[in-house]
Amino acid sequence: MRAIEIFDLSGPETALREAELPEPEPSHLLTPGGGVVVEVEAAGVSFPEVLQTRGEYQVRPPPPFVPGSEVAGTVRSAPEGSDLAPGDRVAAFPMLGGFAEVAVAPAFLTFPLPDALDWRQGAGLILNYHTAWFALVVRGRMRAGETVLVHGAAGGVGTASIQVAKGLGARTIAVVSSGAKEDVARAAGAEEVVRSDGEWREEAKELSGGGVDLVLDPVGGDRFTDSLRSLAEGGRLVVVGFTAGSIPEVKVNRLLLNNTEVIGAGWGAYVISKPDLNGKIAAELARLIDAGAVRPIVGASFPLTVAGASEALRLIDGRGATGKVVLDVG
Ligand SMILES: NC(=O)c1ccc[n+]([C@@H]2O[C@H](COP(=O)([O-])OP(=O)(O)OC[C@H]3O[C@@H](n4cnc5c(N)ncnc54)[C@H](OP(=O)(O)O)[C@@H]3O)[C@@H](O)[C@H]2O)c1
Repeated sequence: MRAIEIFDLSGPETALREAELPEPEPSHLLTPGGGVVVEVEAAGVSFPEVLQTRGEYQVRPPPPFVPGSEVAGTVRSAPEGSDLAPGDRVAAFPMLGGFAEVAVAPAFLTFPLPDALDWRQGAGLILNYHTAWFALVVRGRMRAGETVLVHGAAGGVGTASIQVAKGLGARTIAVVSSGAKEDVARAAGAEEVVRSDGEWREEAKELSGGGVDLVLDPVGGDRFTDSLRSLAEGGRLVVVGFTAGSIPEVKVNRLLLNNTEVIGAGWGAYVISKPDLNGKIAAELARLIDAGAVRPIVGASFPLTVAGASEALRLIDGRGATGKVVLDVG
């Protein structure tokens, strides 16, 4: 099969090469007894793969290896006891190996792909939308009627969080850095959009009538303290990522003074040992897809070539990505 490998750790421009590899065995690190073999139609590209080209991500196999944490495609074979059958359309999370014509994922991270979504949208479903649901509902305890402020709102996690929050009855305020990204956040369904280079904290306070109930933060960096200041009494700030580069520090007296919380949300580490929770999140998302609330926004797609994958990674690395970036494989 054709695949794209990371063969050294020199970054997105130079670390990739094309390889002809044997197809993977139907077993997976997490489920050695058997995994779901998927004929890949589209592969999602995300921040972790950018970091992997530099050896900077926590999942760090020795090169060469095939990156690619999530795919959409057709089941070729499924282990006994799973609800999946050959020919099923699925979204799957192999964790590695997605930039290839065939990938293997654990059954508990492989989900039927609703007909309403195409392959590219399917390749953008698991990482961003499972994270969004997990961060908002499980960790953030979001309720219908609350106001949620989403940083990096035109990005993958951001657009997903807007759709999930809105689908669950919350009101969303998006924070973005440009006019083009404002359009994407609005297309994702954001009711209000504020600019990260403007007076976004004051604007968010005003728009929410005194403070937001929840901040969903995949960005981190300098804006963290202002995020805390934008919370209403009892508000929660859910930490999802650090695309701005620096990891913020909290003066905890702020939490005491305003009765607020900072909550970490690490989707992968939490759900990996909880197959039932994965099923529940997939079912909740299927409901939101049926209702028309969830439609992954695909901002760019590239072919499964060295040039295509490199361009995809550089787009994310250079802050130019909107929605989900995918590779067309099938
Ligand atoms: N905790 C978890 O379980 C979990 C799960 C999935 C992803 N993540 C993490 O969440 C983060 C976001 O992922 P994503 O897929 O949404 O990324 P993305 O699509 O690239 O979006 C990230 C957003 O961050 C903003 N940003 C601000 N400063 C930036 C900078 N210096 N460089 C790049 N972007 C910057 C950008 O928005 P503006 O230009 O509008 O500011 C951008 O749209 C990543 O760190 C990822 O690893 C965490």
